[in-house]
Amino acid sequence: MSSTLRFDGKVAIITGAGGGLGRSYALLFGSRGAKVVVNDLGGDTKGEGKSSRAADKVVEEIQNAGGIAVANYNSVEDGEKIVQTALDNFGRVDILVNNAGILRDRSFARISDTDWDLVQRVHLRGAFMVTRAAFPIMKKQKYGRIIMTSSTSGVYGNFGQANYSAAKLGLLGLSNTVAIEGYKYNVHCNTITPVSGTRMTEGVLPPEMFDELKPEFVAPLVLWLCHEDCEDSGGLYKAAGGWYGKFRWELTEGLVCQKSQEALVTPEEVRDNWEKIIDFKGAHHPASTYEDSALLAMALQGNRGNSKVKTNPTAASSAS
Ligand code: NAI
Repeated sequence: MSSTLRFDGKVAIITGAGGGLGRSYALLFGSRGAKVVVNDLGGDTKGEGKSSRAADKVVEEIQNAGGIAVANYNSVEDGEKIVQTALDNFGRVDILVNNAGILRDRSFARISDTDWDLVQRVHLRGAFMVTRAAFPIMKKQKYGRIIMTSSTSGVYGNFGQANYSAAKLGLLGLSNTVAIEGYKYNVHCNTITPVSGTRMTEGVLPPEMFDELKPEFVAPLVLWLCHEDCEDSGGLYKAAGGWYGKFRWELTEGLVCQKSQEALVTPEEVRDNWEKIIDFKGAHHPASTYEDSALLAMALQGNRGNSKVKTNPTAASSAS
């Protein structure tokens, strides 16, 4: 486990790599031997304006350090063009980091159609468009590593970010299914929630945190998840300031409130059993819909001696 992680011969597309987190991923991939497509539209944080400068500068930085990179200025909504840039210049695509993003924060009652649509289009539809273009290539070559960029604002919600939260948790759902469909072809997909001082968090993070949480601390997690030695797929990870961790779902043991086969459950029975229903003592950590339905089947079976729910035979309970 002491060997250096290299990406020689691999081609990595990083979207929104003209600054912030994407730039730090592009530089680290470039320094580890990957050929990098530096995509960036060069707009402002709200998604307005355009410039080729941002991507060009990062390409220059990679080249000056002895690496190989090419710029692409398309919006992530034109995913095929970005993937085509990789194919035209380097002949393949092995790694895709969906990182491009904008913010249009407003309290929920004041959100406009444009604020909603633009954020969905760049984050969710953008990641979908680039991933859909790259996925068949990765599947065919039986190798691919994809990253989706979510946010704790998606996981927990955040005041003023209904549009962003919805898009960011949507990316987790997308990632989980891409991970399931890609796994047997060695195409892995993982999601990250970074926290970092970038133009996006300027004025949001306190100044001392802004300086401490450098984008360079997030990049090592992204590179590891994108390496061929990393076997994990379908995970949700967090990285900030040199700290790394993983999220998982937790489901209470719950309670079957139905008293007999024919009986229905009243709202009062739900109310009267509320403490037990939400008690996390003995909680489970299902990692798939199969594990989830197996747990349900066991709960119903335990209650009645038989179950109406048919589970997948490969399902495993993950009670812990
Ligand atoms: P940033 O604003 O520095 O970087 C985003 C980049 O995406 C910019 O260079 C921008 O030009 C580019 N971009 C925007 N729309 C694009 C489009 N349609 N096509 C191509 N490129 C486009 O911000 P930062 O912080 O580096 O954000 C990177 C990602 O990380 C974003 O998805 C963001 O939502 C996410 N994130 C960042 C956090 C942080 O603490 N900085 C926290 C959680 C998530």
